Amino acid sequence: MAIRPIVTAPDPRLREISKPVDRVDDELRALMDDMLETMYDAPGIGLAAIQVGVPVRVIVMDLAGEDEEPLPRFFVNPEILDPSEDMSIYEEGCLSVPDFFDEVERPAQCRIKFLDYDGKEQILDAKGMLATCIQHEMDHLEGVLFIDHLSRLKRERVLKKLKKEQRLAAAE
Ligand code: NI
Repeated sequence: MAIRPIVTAPDPRLREISKPVDRVDDELRALMDDMLETMYDAPGIGLAAIQVGVPVRVIVMDLAGEDEEPLPRFFVNPEILDPSEDMSIYEEGCLSVPDFFDEVERPAQCRIKFLDYDGKEQILDAKGMLATCIQHEMDHLEGVLFIDHLSRLKRERVLKKLKKEQRLAAAE
C-alpha cells in the first residue's frame, strides 16, 4: 500500500468524467488499498479515484467514529437509485478543496448499486451521513465538486484562495 498525492482544485483533472471499471482484479484492489491509505492519512472520510488522478469509477469511504472500529467501504461502478424527495443539509468538506466547509442540500436517502472489493454486486440503502457522503463522492465521478452546489460568489472566492495558496507553495 502507498499514500498517493491528492489532486486539489482547481486542477482540471477534477473535472474529468471517470470511466466504468471493466473488472475488479488485483490491480484495481491495489488502487483501492492505496486510496484507503491515502484517505486515512489525510485524514478524510471519503475519496474518489480521480482525487488521486485516476479517472475510474471507484470510491472508498469510512464513516466510523473516532472510538469505533474502522469500517472501510469500497464502491466500484456505483449507481444511485431512488433518491428521496426529502432533503437534508450537511456541512461538507473535500480533500480536494482543503480547509473549506459549507452546507450542501442533497436527497436525504438513496439506494446504491455497486460492486464491492471482491467484485460482487451489492445494494445498499443509505441515509444520513452515508447518503450525503456517497452522493458527494458520486459527484466526483462526474467531474463535480461540492462547491459547485454553492453560489458562484462563494465558489469563485474559494477557488481564488486555493490558486493563491498553490502559487505561494510553488514559489517556496
Ligand atoms: Ni470530495
